[in-house]
Amino acid sequence: MSAANPIPTATASKNQRAVDAISSVMLLRLRERHHDAKDKIYTMSRLDSFIRRLIAQRDILNAVADEVKTLDGPVLELGLGNGRTFDHLRELFPDRRVVAFDRAVNAYGPSMPEASDLVLGEIKDTLRDFIGIGASLAHADIGTGYEDKDAVTVTWLPDLMAGILGSRGLAVSGLPLDHPDLDPLPLPTSVKEGRYFIYRRR
Ligand SMILES: C[S@@+](CC[C@H](N)C(=O)[O-])C[C@H]1O[C@@H](n2cnc3c(N)ncnc32)[C@H](O)[C@@H]1O
Repeated sequence: MSAANPIPTATASKNQRAVDAISSVMLLRLRERHHDAKDKIYTMSRLDSFIRRLIAQRDILNAVADEVKTLDGPVLELGLGNGRTFDHLRELFPDRRVVAFDRAVNAYGPSMPEASDLVLGEIKDTLRDFIGIGASLAHADIGTGYEDKDAVTVTWLPDLMAGILGSRGLAVSGLPLDHPDLDPLPLPTSVKEGRYFIYRRR
């Protein structure tokens, strides 16, 4: 697989159909986010982009923590990865159950959730079992940087997010979530518009 064409053809055309299907507003939001790929409209390096993503995560999660503590319900981490954000969530919410989701186990040892708080598989499938759980916070860091792949994700993620959050629960996401029950909230001043997204469940 080359960097120029990283997706097999059949998947690529399915992904292209997803790009075609999402609203032009969503596509614009994804494009603003995927600044580094094709057009080179922006000049930020991938290292700078990575650093900004992590700063956005940390600053947003710190900013919403007090509000989350006023709500009941578990915290869900969609995309455990290395477990850095999971570890931060555990630190912010020591008395809260934090459940992490991923398709594979790649977390650094000390950041590994207990087996009972780790759900393995495709989030699109595994999260269905958590609909109605009334989460106080769900954080999703599952963007890929590929517009067409992310266009597929935003066809299913908003519905599931709305389904797992309790009333007034917060969604923090690296991808935009267009959903009638999710109201967008302002970002901390340290986070550039369109870099990350916060929503409150109605
Ligand atoms: C960018 S990493 C998350 C990094 C994490 N925030 C951390 O602190 O290390 C994204 C993770 O989400 C997982 N992921 C992405 N999309 C997924 C999906 N649809 N289903 C399951 N896991 C997914 C990937 O396997 C990867 O481990």
